[in-house]
Amino acid sequence: MEHKINAYNNLLELIGNTPLIKLNKVAAPLTGNFYAKVEGFNPGHSAKDRIAIHIIEEAERRGILKKGSTIIETTSGNTGFSIAMISIIKGYDCILAVSSKSSQDKIDMLRSMGAKVYVCPAHVSADDPRSYYEVAKRLHEETEGSIYINQYFNELNADAHYHSTGPEIWDQTNGHITHFIACSGTGGTISGTAKYLKEQNPEIRVIGVDAYGSVLKKYHETGELDNNEIYPYRIEGLGKNLIPTATNFKIIDEFVKVTDEESAHTAREISRSEGIFVGYTSGAVMQAVKQLNELGEFDENSNVVVIFPDHGSRYMSKIYSDQWMADQGFFDTKNIEEPQKIEFIK
Ligand SMILES: Cc1ncc(COP(=O)(O)O)c(C=O)c1O
Repeated sequence: MEHKINAYNNLLELIGNTPLIKLNKVAAPLTGNFYAKVEGFNPGHSAKDRIAIHIIEEAERRGILKKGSTIIETTSGNTGFSIAMISIIKGYDCILAVSSKSSQDKIDMLRSMGAKVYVCPAHVSADDPRSYYEVAKRLHEETEGSIYINQYFNELNADAHYHSTGPEIWDQTNGHITHFIACSGTGGTISGTAKYLKEQNPEIRVIGVDAYGSVLKKYHETGELDNNEIYPYRIEGLGKNLIPTATNFKIIDEFVKVTDEESAHTAREISRSEGIFVGYTSGAVMQAVKQLNELGEFDENSNVVVIFPDHGSRYMSKIYSDQWMADQGFFDTKNIEEPQKIEFIK
């Protein structure tokens, strides 16, 4: 006889419905009310669980994906982890082409989750045969019965957020949200969530966060893909050297650019002040909020929702390593936190 046990059937039932958490300390000097949608609470520790499950289950519905099929993707790490996790539970093989900019932690983590990983050079153009886009395309062509998630050019990416992140935020704020601010990589998070929110209230301001070294902000403002905007930067998952069709530029009111250095310090500040252990792009979005506050974007009635896309544990050898921070010169600037000394008891 089966007893009533209060258990989830598997991990996948835990995807989405992440908490919205008021930011008390990091936002204290700012005008308005600030809330973070903390995506590190997903079982795969990032917002990418939402798109992975949506795209995979859509392929199953269409009969494209069958038991034992291979799922292929390009990923800076988070989407790969989500796909690997879902592949284990559903019984698929997972092949990932990742950028050499990805942290070793992320690559090791993907391999721990049973994925076959190809590491491709970060600083080559998107159409170079060595780029992770081209490598993934080739593997897809060579692997019979495979699907290519193609998150930068897949309309189901934004669709996932339209059906989950958007309605969740609308419900959690009881419709009182005034600003929605999110980092843009593929643009899926911001485009899908904003579409839902603007359908409820077209007055909501939607602001994208881009990196110095990326083309998105200029493309939004001019319609031009300016290759002079492209140069190497360190934040993973934010900005791009191409224009993803997954991004709906029309729904975004404005883009703000942030630096590697300020974003790293702001991520560390969030962890230390709020106790929410966040990734690099959570620092980037909060840094953008600080800049917007300086520009007078908010007033006392503003209810600002930001996305914290992933968990800090993925960045132990980067922003949470004092050595890495020092190597980047991130402690050289005046008026910025000093690394904490470790006391060794003898
Ligand atoms: C850590 C991190 N933050 C932010 C983003 C941006 O999200 P989106 O691709 O939905 O624009 C990504 C996407 O790769 C990411 O991995």
